[in-house]
This record gives sequence, C-alpha cells and structure tokens, in this order.
Amino acid sequence: MTILNTQRLRLEPCSDAHFEGLYELNRDPEVMRYITGKPETPEDTRAMIERVKARWAEFGYSWWSFIDKESGQIIGAGCIQHLGRDAANPLEIGWRLRKDRWHQGFASEAAQAMAQFAFETLKAPLLVAVCDPANSASSRVMERLGMSYRGRERWYDMDTAVYQMTDRDWLARQL
Ligand SMILES: CC(C)(COP(=O)(O)OP(=O)(O)OC[C@H]1O[C@@H](n2cnc3c(N)ncnc32)[C@H](O)[C@@H]1OP(=O)(O)O)[C@@H](O)C(=O)NCCC(=O)NCCS
Repeated sequence: MTILNTQRLRLEPCSDAHFEGLYELNRDPEVMRYITGKPETPEDTRAMIERVKARWAEFGYSWWSFIDKESGQIIGAGCIQHLGRDAANPLEIGWRLRKDRWHQGFASEAAQAMAQFAFETLKAPLLVAVCDPANSASSRVMERLGMSYRGRERWYDMDTAVYQMTDRDWLARQL
C-alpha cells in the first residue's frame, strides 16, 4: 500500500487506526454538503473504512487519509478510484478537508501527489473528477490541478460537473 508525501502532508491508506479522524471529518454537515448531503454516523465511517481496505487489497489504490506532518492530525482524505465504482471506468480523483483547514492549499497539494501517482505509477491514460456544479471550491481545485471542464454528466445519482486531464496534459504541465 502506497504512502504519498507532500511538503506538509503524509497521505496514508485509510485504516482502522484512522477512524476517529475520519469520523471527525465525515460527521461535519458542511464537509458532506455537496457529497452525500448528510453527515456520516460512526457506523457509516466504519463501513467506509472496510470498503476502502478491500479496495486497497484488490486494486492497490483507493482512499488516503491526509495527515498534517506538523500536528499528526488527520485533516482530510482523498482518493484515486474508478469512476462510478466500476473498474471498467477511468480513474477518478477526489478530496475533502476538515473545515478548519480550508483555504490553505492542502487539497491542491494532496491532489498533485495523488495525480502524480495515477499518471506516473499507475500509468493512467486519463484522470477524471466530478463534483456538484455548485461546488465551486472543488472545481477550483480541479482547475488548479490542470483539469479541463468536460460537461455535465450523471454520476452517483447526481448531476455533476465533470473535469478531466489526459496523461499528455499531465506531462505538458511537468515540463
Ligand atoms: C473542496 C475542498 C477540499 C477545497 O478546499 P480548498 O481549501 O478551497 O482548496 P485548496 O486546499 O486547494 O486551497 C485553495 C485555497 O487556499 C489558498 N492557498 C493558500 N496557500 C496555498 C498554497 N500553498 N497552494 C495553493 N493554494 C493556497 C488559495 O488561494 C485558495 O484560496 P481560496 O479558497 O480563498 O480561493 C473543500 O472546500 C472541502 O473539503 N469541501 C467539502 C468536501 C467536498 O465538497 N469535497 C469535494 C467533493 S467533489
């Protein structure tokens, strides 16, 4: 299982040891507003960790917890996973942060490391991201990463704004 490092964060595959931090994150209605629209219960978070552990074992990628190197606290989470949870679909990148860590560049910092993993380690030809069209904070992270708007599509029983970047787009940004 792959740990990723950025300047300020360590991205560790989500595990049972992260329950408290992940529950703190996912219980916040403001964090979940554009995702499921409702805060998680402890049982939801435990079930999420179980699903994610199984995907790490099956695919070698899934959700990471974002650990602030300075405090050791879990300040967010993010993923590389198959869009629509279907292995036939392209890879999707995603993120969420604790509210007290918004507007400090942590999502973009983690996104860069997760995208690098997708393109350079997994050799993905394409990376996609989806969000509620009203979630401008998330679409800004997609744009900062170098993704382009592709249009509106239905995913996860939601109308979503879809962004994407190809391996060529990624390479061109690294030059
Ligand atoms: C989506 C989400 C992760 C974006 O968080 P964010 O803090 O806006 O994004 P970043 O971490 O990239 O930070 C960018 C902001 O930090 C500022 N910033 C400060 N230092 C920075 C740095 N070193 N690098 C980049 N940006 C920096 C930027 O100017 C920008 O400010 P702004 O938000 O006032 O425009 C956050 O809003 C969130 O967790 N929302 C709830 C969960 C969610 O909806 N997730 C997405 C589902 S699709």
